[in-house]
Amino acid sequence: MQTAIMSSTSFPAVDKEREFRNALGRYATGIAVVTLKTQTGDLLGLTVNSFNSVSLAPPLVVWSLAATSSARAAFEASEYYAINVLAADQEALSQRFASRRENRFDGLALETGLGGAPLLPGSCARFQCRNAIRHAGGDHIVFIGEVEHFDYGEGEPLIYFSGAYRRLAA
Ligand SMILES: Cc1cc2nc3c(=O)[nH]c(=O)nc-3n(C[C@H](O)[C@H](O)[C@H](O)COP(=O)(O)O)c2cc1C
Repeated sequence: MQTAIMSSTSFPAVDKEREFRNALGRYATGIAVVTLKTQTGDLLGLTVNSFNSVSLAPPLVVWSLAATSSARAAFEASEYYAINVLAADQEALSQRFASRRENRFDGLALETGLGGAPLLPGSCARFQCRNAIRHAGGDHIVFIGEVEHFDYGEGEPLIYFSGAYRRLAA
C-alpha cells in the first residue's frame, strides 16, 4: 500500500506564478545594473538578471523592464543606456540597485558613458547601448540595445541561481 506522501503536483491550487518563477530560476544568470542619465540630468539604474546576448552583427543585447517600474518612462525616452555586468564581489551593488533607496549612485566613483549613462567601476563587462528597439512583452517591456561601445576585464562574475547569489566553482 502506498504511503500518504503527496507530491506537489497533487495540489491543483498550487501557485502557478510561484512555480513558474521557480522553474525560471533553474536557469543560472549573471547580474547586471542597467543605467542611464535622464533628460533632466538625474541618474537612474536598476538591477536585472534578464540580460542576454541577441546578435553579433549587428551587436545586439536584450533585457526586460517591469512595466510597473518607476524608471519605465525614462528608459523608453532615453537614446542611450549602459549595462554593467556585476563582478563576484559586487553583491552589495546588486542589492542597492534593487532597493527603494533614494540615490543609488551615492559614493560610487562613476565613469560616464554614451548619453551620460553612468558606468560602474569594478564591473566585469560594460555595454554602452543605443536604445534601438522596445517591444511590449506581457508585464515587461523588452529592450534590445545596439552596442556601440564595450569593455571588460578578467574578473569573475556574480551569479544568480534559484533566487540566491552564487559564485563560480573553482
Ligand atoms: C536578482 C534580481 C534580478 C532582477 N531582474 C530584474 C529584471 O530583469 N527586470 C526588472 O524590471 N527588474 C528586475 N529586478 C527588480 C528591480 O531591480 C527592482 O524592482 C527595481 O530596482 C525597483 O526600482 P524601480 O521601481 O525604480 O524600477 C531584479 C531584482 C533582483 C534582485
